[in-house]
Amino acid sequence: MSRLDSFIRRLTAQRDILNAIAGEVEALDGPILELGLGNGRTFDHLRELFPDRRIVAFDRAANAYGPSMPEAGNLVLGEIKDTAADFVGIGAALAHADIGTGYEDKDAITLTWLPRIMAGVLASGGIAVSGLPIDHPQLDALPLPPSVKPGRYFIYRRK
Ligand SMILES: C[S@@+](CC[C@H](N)C(=O)[O-])C[C@H]1O[C@@H](n2cnc3c(N)ncnc32)[C@H](O)[C@@H]1O
Repeated sequence: MSRLDSFIRRLTAQRDILNAIAGEVEALDGPILELGLGNGRTFDHLRELFPDRRIVAFDRAANAYGPSMPEAGNLVLGEIKDTAADFVGIGAALAHADIGTGYEDKDAITLTWLPRIMAGVLASGGIAVSGLPIDHPQLDALPLPPSVKPGRYFIYRRK
């Protein structure tokens, strides 16, 4: 599969999952955390899905397209491993992480801390959506929408 096809499938999976879980997230209290703001496309989609919800975005640097830049209080810059640790216990309804690199060695390092962060920021019943598989005893895997091939993107519910 070309990298273009792979990219399109990853983003389609991400959008289809976020659309599929939106109703469940609506029913939960708590903010939404976007780990890996990037260009801000997913942040913009989250804003459309959850217009009344606080959405806090994290990245190393502010590189989002201007209109998709979160306001200052909802943009946290630095290494997610460190910055998101301050949000453990916030009781998020949804945490989405799109921070995979495609490099196995780099992603393996991310996975030494990401599961603890994802489980830690969520409320009980909160939803984790991730491009990397998350293995944590407090997170139960949820079924994917039919359009998403298993292994392409991942959904979990916090116990
Ligand atoms: C694939 S992009 C996210 C794309 C985003 N979903 C969008 O709509 O544009 C991943 C982003 O996460 C950031 N990132 C990855 N790992 C990170 C880390 N450990 N700490 C901080 N930022 C990180 C990168 O700087 C990059 O901007």
